[in-house]
Amino acid sequence: MRYNAGMKKKNLVIANWKMNPETILEAKTIFNNSRKNTQNLRNADLVICPPDVFLLTLSKLQRPKNIFFGAQDIFYANKGAFTGETSASQVLDSGAKFVIIGHSERRALGESDEVVARKLQAAFDSGLTPILCIGERERDKEGRHLEFVRNQIKLALSPLRKKNLIGLIFAYEPVWAIGKSSREAMSPTDIHETVLFIKKTVGELAGRDVAQTIRVLYGGSVESENAKSIMEHGNVDGFLVGHASISDDFGRILRSI
Ligand code: PGA
Repeated sequence: MRYNAGMKKKNLVIANWKMNPETILEAKTIFNNSRKNTQNLRNADLVICPPDVFLLTLSKLQRPKNIFFGAQDIFYANKGAFTGETSASQVLDSGAKFVIIGHSERRALGESDEVVARKLQAAFDSGLTPILCIGERERDKEGRHLEFVRNQIKLALSPLRKKNLIGLIFAYEPVWAIGKSSREAMSPTDIHETVLFIKKTVGELAGRDVAQTIRVLYGGSVESENAKSIMEHGNVDGFLVGHASISDDFGRILRSI
């Protein structure tokens, strides 16, 4: 079943652990810290995306209802001769409900828009809830970055059926702002503008009724220093947090929501 937080859109925080940590022991410690930090989290859900190899063990540990698990990627076929890949049904079976699709670090390794679209479809077909990552590599005064983002959205969504687009979760992650410090992240005003642009683009492609149901999260150097102001002024429905999600700063980020 796809994630549905009811009529009122709940904020979402995605913890993208990337290829960290090195051992299951450390993974359990990070998970336990996150669990403690969600104790007072009332108006948001947390999705922890560890490396696939830790999913099954972590998802068996006790956790409150507002913590879910997700995978960082899937392959578009469901089984077969695809050495090294992991399918939607395999991560579902390991406890994931969500999956990050089209992260810029995967795109940088050669993942095309066409592959992103196929993975998105595979997520929907399996019942996983995808988080579709989009974002420009650089900004320019002429607004070409907006065209770039529009194109990414178009290529990912056009093969999908309209019913799949309802409630779709986007993670807007400008590539130039990933893995830096909060000082180098995007400003809340610029985020606000881009979120409006994403919603407008979805409206053009699928209708305004659908555009009103989507969530747009921001990702790219979210730390406790900028989380509150992005939440207040960025027009976002939550965050996708990378490096800070495995650090002590994560508790402060969650508290700012
Ligand atoms: P960051 O990563 O928070 O470390 O910038 C975000 C992401 O790449 O998902």
